[in-house]
Amino acid sequence: MLEAYNQKKNIYVSLNEAPLGSSELVDPCFSTYDIEYFRYAGKQMTHSELFKTTQLGPYTLKNRIVLPPLTRSRSSQPGNIANDLMATYYRQRSGAGFMVTEGTQIEPRGQGYAWTPGIHSPEQIQGWRKVTDAVHAEGGVIFAQLWHVGRVSHTSLQPGGEAPVAPSAIRADNVKVFIETGPGTGTLADPSTPRALSTEEVKELVELYAQAARNALEAGFDGVELHCANGYLVNQFISAHTNQRDDEYGGSLQNRLCFLREITLAVAGVVGKERVGVRFAPLFATTDEDRVYLGLVEEDPHQTYIEAVKILEEVGIAYLSLAEADWENAPELPETFREAVRQIFSGKIICAGKYTTERASRVIKAGWADLIAFGRPFIANPDLPARIANNWPLNPLDPSSMYGGTDKGYTDYPTYTP
Ligand SMILES: Cc1cc2nc3c(=O)[nH]c(=O)nc-3n(C[C@H](O)[C@H](O)[C@H](O)COP(=O)(O)O)c2cc1C
Repeated sequence: MLEAYNQKKNIYVSLNEAPLGSSELVDPCFSTYDIEYFRYAGKQMTHSELFKTTQLGPYTLKNRIVLPPLTRSRSSQPGNIANDLMATYYRQRSGAGFMVTEGTQIEPRGQGYAWTPGIHSPEQIQGWRKVTDAVHAEGGVIFAQLWHVGRVSHTSLQPGGEAPVAPSAIRADNVKVFIETGPGTGTLADPSTPRALSTEEVKELVELYAQAARNALEAGFDGVELHCANGYLVNQFISAHTNQRDDEYGGSLQNRLCFLREITLAVAGVVGKERVGVRFAPLFATTDEDRVYLGLVEEDPHQTYIEAVKILEEVGIAYLSLAEADWENAPELPETFREAVRQIFSGKIICAGKYTTERASRVIKAGWADLIAFGRPFIANPDLPARIANNWPLNPLDPSSMYGGTDKGYTDYPTYTP
């Protein structure tokens, strides 16, 4: 059932609560997050920090508001191909200063959820061209998020029904994948037990990232973001919980960061380091909530991710994207970590995770971020930057249409008419 896929997310957006005692505002479709948004809007706050232009690699961005990567599972079947509907969706959101696509798998084994788009076949490259043309026609800047799920997959999604691939043969037990059971329908499932990649295969994967970056350029993207967050393949190499290899890609922290270093260098070699971003989820705590994605918590998250950021600085990439904890009552990222990242990394920093405009301004003013991504608000509000600029109210999010389906809950959210 498609609803099951989305219901998993209902938990995390915590709908139907009676938030903040403001019963006159309560609508079954509002989360506490939306209500807070309204409160700030109601105070007529100015958010001028979000509307200062900034430079990202070779691009001058019109504002600091980012459309973060958001999986929406609407690609054309068979073939996981980006389509006209997706082009409309991205074009509608091109008021963002900077846009990143939903995760797009770099090879067939990189898929962990039904109907997510890929960027490895000629048809997929052509499909993405529709998206980049639509966004560029509106003056937008868009990077492709290169994704490989590693162990967070299922035999039914893998070529030949084989086991998913991972740094080590350790099954993911805290997340679900989504598999198709018939045309347009599917169900949540536990990820399958993966098999460990050989050293040779890891090196081949580095080349697959480089090829995906070439494909992204061919599709007209302005650059690429490496998805190294949320418990997927690169995160699995970084994490001591999921990487128990005894070759050069495992063991010490520096060895566990070797795959990150190699793929970052490889894609920078293809698109230019000024057109590369990397996304991490440096979690300092986890949650018991049922999730369809979740990053891993290291014994020493500060040290792990500071060492990882040093690699990005060495390569000299354009930006670091921090996917912060985004569940209900999620803890704040420690300020010591934010400070340390800013000191080490000279590129731009994007932060995401339950940001209100007020918090966004605060974090930019503190110097901890240059750009702020708004995920769920952007799903429901195609004209989000204009709404923030004018303190206009927000559309509520319909969580039942986040993953999969038609134009409903995808391209039919209205823009605001004053
Ligand atoms: C429906 C949905 C799909 C997502 N898909 C991706 C994805 O493909 N890649 C990724 O890095 N993060 C993904 N995320 C995480 C978002 O980019 C963002 O970090 C998260 O929604 C927190 O921001 P928000 O609180 O403003 O929504 C997804 C989140 C949601 C809600």
